[in-house]
Amino acid sequence: MGFPQHRPRRLRQNPAVRRLVAEFELSSRQLILPAFVREGLTEPNPITSMPGVMQHTMDSLKATAADAAQRGLGGIMLFGIPEHRDETGSAGIDPKGILNRGIAAVREEVGDELVIMSDVCLDEFTSHGHCGVLDEKGAVDNDRTLEIYAEMAVMQAEAGAHILGPSGMMDGQIAVIREALDQAGKQDVAVLAYAAKYASAFYGPFREAVDSQLQGDRRTYQMDASNRREALLEVELDLAEGADMVMVKPAMSYLDIVSDIAQMSPVPVSAYQISGEYAMIEAAAANGWIDRKASVMESLLSIRRAGAEQILTYYAAEVAGWLNEGK
Ligand code: PBG
Repeated sequence: MGFPQHRPRRLRQNPAVRRLVAEFELSSRQLILPAFVREGLTEPNPITSMPGVMQHTMDSLKATAADAAQRGLGGIMLFGIPEHRDETGSAGIDPKGILNRGIAAVREEVGDELVIMSDVCLDEFTSHGHCGVLDEKGAVDNDRTLEIYAEMAVMQAEAGAHILGPSGMMDGQIAVIREALDQAGKQDVAVLAYAAKYASAFYGPFREAVDSQLQGDRRTYQMDASNRREALLEVELDLAEGADMVMVKPAMSYLDIVSDIAQMSPVPVSAYQISGEYAMIEAAAANGWIDRKASVMESLLSIRRAGAEQILTYYAAEVAGWLNEGK
């Protein structure tokens, strides 16, 4: 007899065997927590479409960063929400602007214990909500935007960011930022390129998180969901321009892209589990339709399995807590 000859179930028979043969696992050191700091807040402000996520005051941001460091997270990615916006997003290049103050406060709080990353993009700062400045026809002006990104990058580096995350998908942004950093004597500040960033409906809750003023969409600069090969081009260009790390975003609906990039990239590959991915898990779990913790872990593991090393996720601190409990 002896049928069946092959019994893969042998290696699934109990938790100890399963643990022995697990190919991938999550570790806190590779999780990055996105965090929002809002100007003029006196109390942390809950984001309704992202239950459990807050717009922070300067104090609650500092506490969040200290907690992230203490939990052994890999990093924190900072976003700022200014009180006043204008056509050119000038609050983004103001050294006293909310994001730059947030970076400085976090750096003072955690020093080099936690990698401090910051968003180099104009959408939080512009009155029209686009990631760049507009020309007279209302289209996003790539090259004028680059000049502002260069200035923004230097400000953020001076405020104390270790790694900058340009997320605006302007052509040439990595080269311009690298050159500006080097000229400012900031050779040590690294660039995590949002290399393959798709125009996604799943960014919805983030737009609430940053009180976005956007009308319309970002389809003239973010990538089209129909395209796979184009992601390789975007990554190659960012590498040629000097990216130290590359990111794919969103994660869940783009795991094929994560896998493609992981196979060709000579630098670390990150993926961003974005606001809508978080919101979907939260909403289904709140209804009792899925098991929250198991779904969170499974969603993150799938991103690791696709080949990303670092994961930006709103679950970072909580997951680190779960991982530490398991030790
Ligand atoms: C742009 C930016 C966005 C996100 C991160 N950086 C929004 C957008 O491109 O519309 C989305 C993150 C998320 O949805 O969690 N500064």
